[in-house]
Amino acid sequence: MSDLPTPEPEALAISQELGAVIGQRIERAGGWIGFDAFMAAALYEPGLGYYSGNSRKFGRGGDFVTAPEISPLFGACVAAQCAQWLEGTSDGVIEFGAGTGMLAAHVLNELSRLGFDEVSYGIVELSAPLRAVQRHTIEALAPHAITRVRWHDELPRRIDAVVLANELLDAIPVRRFVLDGPRVLERGVARRDPAGVDSQDPFAQAFEWSDRPAGPDFEEQVRRALERSGWSSDERATPYESELGEQARAWVETIGASLGRGALLLFDYGFPAGEFYHPQRSEGTLACHYRHRVHFEPFFLPGLQDITSHVDFSAIAAGAAAAGLDPLGYTSQANFLLNSGLLERLGQVQPEDALARARQSQAIQALVSEAEMGELFKVIAFGRGLADDALGFSRGDRFGAL
Ligand SMILES: C[S@@+](CC[C@H](N)C(=O)[O-])C[C@H]1O[C@@H](n2cnc3c(N)ncnc32)[C@H](O)[C@@H]1O
Repeated sequence: MSDLPTPEPEALAISQELGAVIGQRIERAGGWIGFDAFMAAALYEPGLGYYSGNSRKFGRGGDFVTAPEISPLFGACVAAQCAQWLEGTSDGVIEFGAGTGMLAAHVLNELSRLGFDEVSYGIVELSAPLRAVQRHTIEALAPHAITRVRWHDELPRRIDAVVLANELLDAIPVRRFVLDGPRVLERGVARRDPAGVDSQDPFAQAFEWSDRPAGPDFEEQVRRALERSGWSSDERATPYESELGEQARAWVETIGASLGRGALLLFDYGFPAGEFYHPQRSEGTLACHYRHRVHFEPFFLPGLQDITSHVDFSAIAAGAAAAGLDPLGYTSQANFLLNSGLLERLGQVQPEDALARARQSQAIQALVSEAEMGELFKVIAFGRGLADDALGFSRGDRFGAL
């Protein structure tokens, strides 16, 4: 880890404060907390967590780049899909976890171009600093629409809307488990012995993994998730370690239950259970992003790095089914964008100069190439009261694989 850039002293102080908060929480809980509790604090602890603090996360100067930041064509394709579903939905579009507000601005611009210039746009965002960034982006890029944008603290009980989220599910805390022969253990977090932590080293980690027997509910959930994968336990060598995204699934169930008429359209990286819990993926999918480097040390600089897990889309589909939603499609990001008219739009907005054209083709490449986001990133949609003819899934729908 020593080759990673050292944080500024103020950032380091915030990380140490957050580390102390988590440490006290572990002590109060008797020496151990679940990884979900650690991840929730590292990302969302008010004023200190990665998303709730003030550090720059998105774009070239931050830690990672998301699809809406790459090209406005991404949002234009998303808008084309929303337009198909918006007729008869009185609450417009509602986006969860809107990041810098780039997707909102691009969707609003394209919807206006398509004649949907009265549509309201709600944003649900946990992070107060990001809300301010979102307002600023929309005022700058889609000023005609800013009066139609509202930030919600919580959703009304019933919504008739198109609910959108890009890279939200991967940021929802997960629990970790280890299969050790026939035993299921929950892998949580304990404090390291302070005597072994060098207080002068900014990268010294104050926490470590700690396993304990899984409680009966957790064990049952793990067994069900593994069953959905279709692999038998004899095919998996142990120890085998992975994640369970129960909160992401519960989020889908909750939104699904409040969706009257409308759709839920989600973009993220991940796989069906068969690939997620493949015997060879024996260390799970947890990853951390710090200044454009990916590593696998979640206890490094709490609050200053992003922590994510891939999405088990079979579990997401199970959550939506439990809420009584109809499947509308599941496919790769590349298929979704091409089905939604990416190439036709590209023809309409070819820049004049060669440099801008080269940048645009680089952006398209990043969005659809198999080696970049095109295949790893998936798109899934569910609905209620809508026809099963979604534009974005017209070719290459793989819902049956979930
Ligand atoms: C990886 S970022 C993605 C941001 C943006 N959608 C993009 O594509 O650039 C995850 C976002 O989800 C937000 N978030 C996480 N859980 C949330 C929840 N339960 N409700 C609303 N926002 C949430 C975070 O604050 C953050 O803005």
